[in-house]
Amino acid sequence: MRLDKFVCKSTTLTRELAREQIQQGRIQVNGRVVLSERAQVHENNCITWDGSVLTARSFRYLLLHKPAGTVCSNVDEAYPSLFNGSGIDHTEELHVAGRLDADTTGLVLITDDGRWSFEIIRPDRLCEKVYRVGLSRPISEHVAERFAAGILLQGEAKPTQPAKLEVVNSREVLLTITEGRYHQVKRMFAAVGNRVRSLHREQIGAVRLDICEGQWRNLTPDEIQSFCDRSNGSGTDVPAFSAV
Ligand code: URA
Repeated sequence: MRLDKFVCKSTTLTRELAREQIQQGRIQVNGRVVLSERAQVHENNCITWDGSVLTARSFRYLLLHKPAGTVCSNVDEAYPSLFNGSGIDHTEELHVAGRLDADTTGLVLITDDGRWSFEIIRPDRLCEKVYRVGLSRPISEHVAERFAAGILLQGEAKPTQPAKLEVVNSREVLLTITEGRYHQVKRMFAAVGNRVRSLHREQIGAVRLDICEGQWRNLTPDEIQSFCDRSNGSGTDVPAFSAV
């Protein structure tokens, strides 16, 4: 990771203060002063601050039940950040693995481990995300087949990956997708002449939402590991969804 990030992860310094310390020559890597905050360091390196050895805190992996009217970023934009009032510390180090829109509720995974979140976000990892979708019009026939075949979204050249649709009732469905394109679920239903009225993420991979709105918990070691073990059992890059 970058030297300034390492210094933040091993001290209580903010990114700005960490940079100051680096630029003042107070940080050494393997016995040498390093003045660039961008220098890449490894956890095996011996990194010191005024002679004291620094040890980075271990990565964090959290699950949060996002309320409506919050944004998945650290800074307040038009809506408050989902971290506001959560009691989670050092939120400036964390990011959301797969953001939700401000009006979407449900399961959000949060970490400071960029490699791990890559496994969740990258479309070629085929990590399944399950959404409960409320619709303004009754679901029409053949939508499941169209989503299973992949659908072209407005302004895009490549169809969506196969998606699975389960009908709960005429205006409520469960949709499983493996990508995270911009406003994907809303745009998929717009493409078949419907409109999303409510959107709630229930599951990502093997991790299910099991806490109340606004609460958070640490992921279990098995849950963390489940995203690293994921291999595509079919041996192909295409998920084998068929219409139900
Ligand atoms: N798809 C959307 O349209 N919005 C979300 O928040 C998540 C998926």
